[in-house]
Amino acid sequence: MDPNIEERTRRTKWFLESRFGMFIHWGLYAIPARGEWVRSRERIPVEAYQPFFDEFNPRDFDARAWAKMAKAAGMKYAVLTAKHHDGFCLFDSALTDYKSTNTPFGRDIVKEYTEAFRAEGLKVGLYYSLLDWHHPDYPHYGDRHHPMRDNEAFKGMEHHFERYLDYLHGQVRELLTNYGKIDIMWFDFSYPGMECETWRATELVTMARELQPDLIIDNRLEGSGEKSGTIMTQHPSVYAGDFACPEQMIPPRGLTDDLGNSIPWEACITLNDMWGYDAHDHHYKSDRMVIRNLVECVSKNGNLLVNVGPDAKGRFPKEAVRVLEGVADWMKDNSESIYGCGCAEFGKPEWGRYTQKGNKLYAHVYEECMGAVCLPGLAGKIDHMRLLYDGSEIRPTEYWNVKEYPNDAFFFFSNNRTLSFPLPDERDTVVEITLK
Ligand code: GLC
Repeated sequence: MDPNIEERTRRTKWFLESRFGMFIHWGLYAIPARGEWVRSRERIPVEAYQPFFDEFNPRDFDARAWAKMAKAAGMKYAVLTAKHHDGFCLFDSALTDYKSTNTPFGRDIVKEYTEAFRAEGLKVGLYYSLLDWHHPDYPHYGDRHHPMRDNEAFKGMEHHFERYLDYLHGQVRELLTNYGKIDIMWFDFSYPGMECETWRATELVTMARELQPDLIIDNRLEGSGEKSGTIMTQHPSVYAGDFACPEQMIPPRGLTDDLGNSIPWEACITLNDMWGYDAHDHHYKSDRMVIRNLVECVSKNGNLLVNVGPDAKGRFPKEAVRVLEGVADWMKDNSESIYGCGCAEFGKPEWGRYTQKGNKLYAHVYEECMGAVCLPGLAGKIDHMRLLYDGSEIRPTEYWNVKEYPNDAFFFFSNNRTLSFPLPDERDTVVEITLK
């Protein structure tokens, strides 16, 4: 086996057992409140964005409250935007003045975040944007995404990209030196012409691993171009990353390398439609949907990273809190079917999904069955079954009308032994099946 793959397997063990994390997108863009791409989408010049820097003062920011909500929801790790594409730094970097400590707020947010989340027993990750719309040496005119990409005034302007790369490398060094143990580095993102060694990626990753040997890194230093995706092969590049990070979708068949072996992956999704706070975006997913998305990821050997975009005062939006509370309520009783679990040895059942850990098979039942719930192919393989949320016994049934299916096992949910509705938890009722 390629030593890069062996190392990756070692490093990602805790990550894959954790299964569930929180993404936090926060920065100056919480004030205009039209999402984190507002500068690019509306082609806002750097000067017109400056008022948000001058007034940034999220007085209700309380990293401990955030950490407690993440923990209650069953999340085991978090990833905070230390710097997003707008270039604003949530940490006290010696390499720029464009940082939270220079705003009226005056505080090092990365420091408070890392301390608070660690105190709750969560692993901490940092997102760092490879793009930078504030740095003078990042390409402006003609770039695909820069707010000034089609502003003629910037045509022919000189950029010393190497200088930007020194800055990028220097800031990553700061983040991996000044804030204790960092568990995840989440680089974002590459695009045609701006990928791989454009970022001096080998040097960057080598430095990162020297500073933090256990650090795991996402796969966005490689782009979506031809040279990319070596994480899916037997010989990943040095900067291929430890896990793939599909965005706003769950891969239909999980993610595997060219030999069909599962590779570490994490789907990242928003709770509403945007990553950064958007005051008008009330299109929230339900707790039920988040729970089912999580189960789907686990059933395909993946993780789920759910995003929250705090507002300009530093608070999680009320709707987000409500969804997280719903997830917390479910996780409190059912997290055994998530942590350390993965793809089951049995195919996807009609009524929902399976997850599995050793001889524990978890049936996540979503659909009401009129009569007996069928466990295809499980006849003779079950030692016992329990409802996961209260530990109550579920007995296999031998009712007359299931006798024609000798390979399958069946059970009923209700006391009246012939019916299975309504479901005890319509979001996801989990039955723990102990296999023989
Ligand atoms: C995209 C977006 C970005 C977001 C990220 C999360 O790359 O540019 O705004 O942070 O996805 O995966």
